[in-house]
Amino acid sequence: MNAADEPLVSLVGRDLLSVADLSAAEVSRVYQTATQLKTEFHANRRHARPPLPGRTLAMLFQKPSLRTRVSFEAGMAQLGGHAIYLTHDVVLGARESVRDVARNLERMVDAIVVRTGSHEVALELAAQANVPVINGLTLREHPCQALADIFTIQERFGRLEGLVVAFVGDGNNVYHSLALLGAAFGMEIRLAHPPGYAPNERIVSRARELADASGARLRFGHDPVDAVRGAAVIYTDAWTSMGQEAETEERRDAFAAYRVDDALLDAAGRGVLAMHCLPAHRGGEITSAVMDGPRSLIWEQSENRLHVQKALLVELLGGMPKG
Ligand code: CP
Ligand code: NVA
Repeated sequence: MNAADEPLVSLVGRDLLSVADLSAAEVSRVYQTATQLKTEFHANRRHARPPLPGRTLAMLFQKPSLRTRVSFEAGMAQLGGHAIYLTHDVVLGARESVRDVARNLERMVDAIVVRTGSHEVALELAAQANVPVINGLTLREHPCQALADIFTIQERFGRLEGLVVAFVGDGNNVYHSLALLGAAFGMEIRLAHPPGYAPNERIVSRARELADASGARLRFGHDPVDAVRGAAVIYTDAWTSMGQEAETEERRDAFAAYRVDDALLDAAGRGVLAMHCLPAHRGGEITSAVMDGPRSLIWEQSENRLHVQKALLVELLGGMPKG
């Protein structure tokens, strides 16, 4: 079934733990709202009728963040609401249990964003809280990132189906969410990773189910040059994710041949663009020349975190009249 054939269901009150929690049609609806909000915002940096007045968002961040934090905090303010950033003083399961945190917050705020290592903790929070819980990154998934990434690709290329994205690096949280969403939209998602850094098998099998339904393709290999041939987008992320710092040196060796540089972009062919979720290690997984060069989509990608997450909040909190 393609996105256009799926019945539209309200997103109000839903959680977003995995990007696979939303159908392609539901994501397309978020994208319509995002486009509208982005256009309004670009016109005069504010919305004439902010759709979430008086609404509040709790942000439980157990790990550092620039983009996710600022896009949600600024986003809530622009929508007429308010965000509360909670970090070292609320360590989930330390001062009080995840359940008790959920039972307090649900009485005070309209939604929660959680950033933590353990995906199970995010799932537990969502199970316990009766307000929407949004995954702001776990070691398993980064759904807000993938939502913004696919939006960015659609905006730039004007289509998704059949488009090739080559992810070069670690089969990590960012890859997982990108593969699931790309699979739902009929894209070809390739991964070139060093032996030993394959993605989670359960995620891959879910992505394969989505790909079977949409006509998407998933490809895996170890050779970056093979992976990028004919790609529209080359995507990379840090070789060491937050929480894996003890493996930094070992990973630097394992990933040394997986750097995204101009030669790799040249191997892809004409029209290829580079993406990175950021933060980047310049001279590590990507060169400064690529990041700052004409074939970079990175800064647009970062900006779209704001627009897409605002749209997500509007849809989950029921802030705009449904068409
Ligand atoms: N890409 C991303 O999620 O960035 P932050 O870790 O800075 O939020
Ligand atoms: N894979 C990275 C993404 C950071 C936004 C991490 O988990 O640290």
